[in-house]
Amino acid sequence: MNTLLPIFMKIKFEPCLIVGGGKIALQKARQLIEAEADITIVAPNLIPGFDVLKITHTSTNYERKHIAGKKLVIAATNDSEINRKVYQDAVALNIPVNVVDEPELCSFYMGSVYQDGDLKIAVSTNGTCPSFGQYVRDHIKSVSRGIWGKSLAKLALHRKRVIQSITDYSKKQQIISQLVAKEEAFHNYSSKKQGKVFIVGAGPGDPELITVKGYHAIKNADIILHDALIHPHLVFEVNPLAEKIFVGKRNGKHSVSQKEIQSILIEEVNKGRQVVRLKGGDPFIFGRGGEEAIALAGENIPFEVIAGVTAGIGAAAGYGIPLTSRKEANKTLFITGHQCDRKGEHDWKKLATLDATLVFYMGLKRIDDIINGLTQNKMSLYTPIAIIQNATLINQQILTSTLGEIKNKLSKDEVKTPAIIIIGEVVNHHENIQSCIDNLPAGVLRPLESSGFDFWQGEFIEA
Ligand SMILES: C[S@@+](CC[C@H](N)C(=O)[O-])C[C@H]1O[C@@H](n2cnc3c(N)ncnc32)[C@H](O)[C@@H]1O
Repeated sequence: MNTLLPIFMKIKFEPCLIVGGGKIALQKARQLIEAEADITIVAPNLIPGFDVLKITHTSTNYERKHIAGKKLVIAATNDSEINRKVYQDAVALNIPVNVVDEPELCSFYMGSVYQDGDLKIAVSTNGTCPSFGQYVRDHIKSVSRGIWGKSLAKLALHRKRVIQSITDYSKKQQIISQLVAKEEAFHNYSSKKQGKVFIVGAGPGDPELITVKGYHAIKNADIILHDALIHPHLVFEVNPLAEKIFVGKRNGKHSVSQKEIQSILIEEVNKGRQVVRLKGGDPFIFGRGGEEAIALAGENIPFEVIAGVTAGIGAAAGYGIPLTSRKEANKTLFITGHQCDRKGEHDWKKLATLDATLVFYMGLKRIDDIINGLTQNKMSLYTPIAIIQNATLINQQILTSTLGEIKNKLSKDEVKTPAIIIIGEVVNHHENIQSCIDNLPAGVLRPLESSGFDFWQGEFIEA
């Protein structure tokens, strides 16, 4: 039966004595230093390691006078005579004393300690088997996984607020207990191997345009479900070990239905896997990321959406077209071209008079409808237009013109999908900005090392 009284003693700035200058004494000195004690070491010699510690060294053999005024004493010499003398002197002066590895010469034990922030857990085996105490301490450490200390810091903050705002004692206790229970529930939940879906935007093409967060999600994924239009570097090279499933379009047709994609996501995450759903551009811009998020939320599946650079923004930045400009456009609209043939879907009159930059996705096949819709509703035939194909990739191309001229130009210059169509006065800035970018002096560095921009000219499939 362990009859020891566990107490946590304040010895900050208090004079403490360690007798001995070897390995064990060094270990004890480090423990006392963590408690910010004022430490004196009595020993003729010290092993290396003490030199970096803030201690006072008395370089002689132990004498009774060394113990006077001390708050705590530890004897860690390999001389049992000296150890016994230290013990007797300390007991005579009612000073707590510990002779290392001699339980009968101890008035206190040090315990195996696990510390994380303000949390300190000390394990006692009643001096019977300190190694088992260390085993228990390590077990606590592995269960805590470094989150208990954070929880304590969070709860301490809440507790302070509760104490300041509520006067009734039992109400205070009730609220604090509820907060602790909530924290505990969180720990139980997170200690299971929990899968999660990351709906990640891969950016418009250049693999360097993915976010750091998205990149890390790919790196840590067990499985990646990817669309078409995604650079192979991101799909295959960042995490070669992850399982890959292509769920995009082949020859204009979905290889896997949206319903199937959602059920794969749910099935995989329920196995406790980290699933990345990798989508071109931004997942929530014409990417069905919303539908997938809604399905996951409906099944209570943990997920996170990681934004990506959408093709419209990537294309505009890459070709020097500021989508908004104080002079020409105080708004930008992202529009799908797909729905141009669905009667009543676009209010052309409104679009034509919005005084905004219009960015059309999936619009190339409906270019005639777009131009007619706008120009028949009083948008000037001189309004600039840019069609950007394979934006941000090595084979990117731009075709600029006006709404009145573009049809003639298009029949000569073959533009293929995927393409972004930008309409608005801001397109006029392209030439000026681009010529400056193109004429950079030799030797001006790209901001980052290329991680594959140059090697991919893979076939695009219209999504
Ligand atoms: C289904 S939408 C997906 C959009 C994507 N979620 C995004 O935020 O960019 C596909 C369309 O995006 C545009 N697109 C995607 N990547 C492109 C690229 N590199 N260059 C030009 N247009 C691109 C094309 O209009 C294509 O038809």
